[in-house]
Amino acid sequence: MTSTPATADSQAAIEAVDLGVRYNLRLTRKNTVRQSFRSLTTRGDGKKDFWALKDVSFRIVHGESLAVIGPNGAGKSTLLQVLAGIIVPSEGSVEVRGQVSSLLTLGAGFDQELTGRQNVLLAGAFLGIDRGEMRRRLDGIIEFADIGQFIDVPIKTYSSGMRARLGFAIATSVDPDVLLLDEVLATGDQVFREKSKQRVLAIAAAAKAVVLVTHDMHWVTEFCNRAILLEKGRVVAEGDPAEVVAIHQAHSERARIERAAAIAAAQASGLGAIAPRL
Ligand SMILES: Nc1ncnc2c1ncn2[C@@H]1O[C@H](COP(=O)(O)OP(=O)(O)O)[C@@H](O)[C@H]1O
Ligand SMILES: [Mg+2]
Repeated sequence: MTSTPATADSQAAIEAVDLGVRYNLRLTRKNTVRQSFRSLTTRGDGKKDFWALKDVSFRIVHGESLAVIGPNGAGKSTLLQVLAGIIVPSEGSVEVRGQVSSLLTLGAGFDQELTGRQNVLLAGAFLGIDRGEMRRRLDGIIEFADIGQFIDVPIKTYSSGMRARLGFAIATSVDPDVLLLDEVLATGDQVFREKSKQRVLAIAAAAKAVVLVTHDMHWVTEFCNRAILLEKGRVVAEGDPAEVVAIHQAHSERARIERAAAIAAAQASGLGAIAPRL
């Protein structure tokens, strides 16, 4: 980790400098087909690892809501996992100040055999919140998650939507200094989504930092004060949300046209069967 001057440090909630995350493709099975295809098509360097994030630098202060947008596979989830401390960067440094709460860690940390209620208390223990305090928060969390009697049933019986609701309720109940949310606002029905937005807004308004990955461009332009656009692991645009969203939309449109052209070319040469879907 590099050190930065104390004056700059005192303001920043998150400071990332030249972050890089390299995945070793030999170690993962799940992505093999996709990655092989990718290396045939775009990367083509035949190497066994690739950079999911490269040269990523940014800084946010408390009170800011940063949107991280970009196409699938751009590295958005990887970035949030680095900020959450789940992934150690291969190069560069990241400093996150204050108590961090993220849906990623909590959702992943659920114990399948325990009930929702027990998992809430367990999550509190992980977050270093004492038992009495967590018990006081319990009712509010249960009310917000709104999953009925399922709260007293083992998590393994939950639908993904129910898990996400409970995860969101816990992640946002702990009064974090830094809140990390990865596509959670797409979860659940309209009523839950609206309730979630209000809660994220309240946290941001309470001078806490929020880093949000979302495909909801309306949310980005309306509620975030800054956005970064990731593509192939690199920051290609940063700044005013409306401007960054416009760049993203232009790039997405161009990518769609290029894919359509690639498919047409593949079909023309009789390779239509292996062309990627739009
Ligand atoms: N554990 C892993 N091992 C190897 N590659 C991974 C792993 N996790 C993600 N990737 C790859 O890294 C890239 C970025 O992934 P991710 O951060 O999930 O992107 P996003 O959230 O923007 O869709 C993708 O190409 C993905 O396939
Ligand atoms: Mg993702």
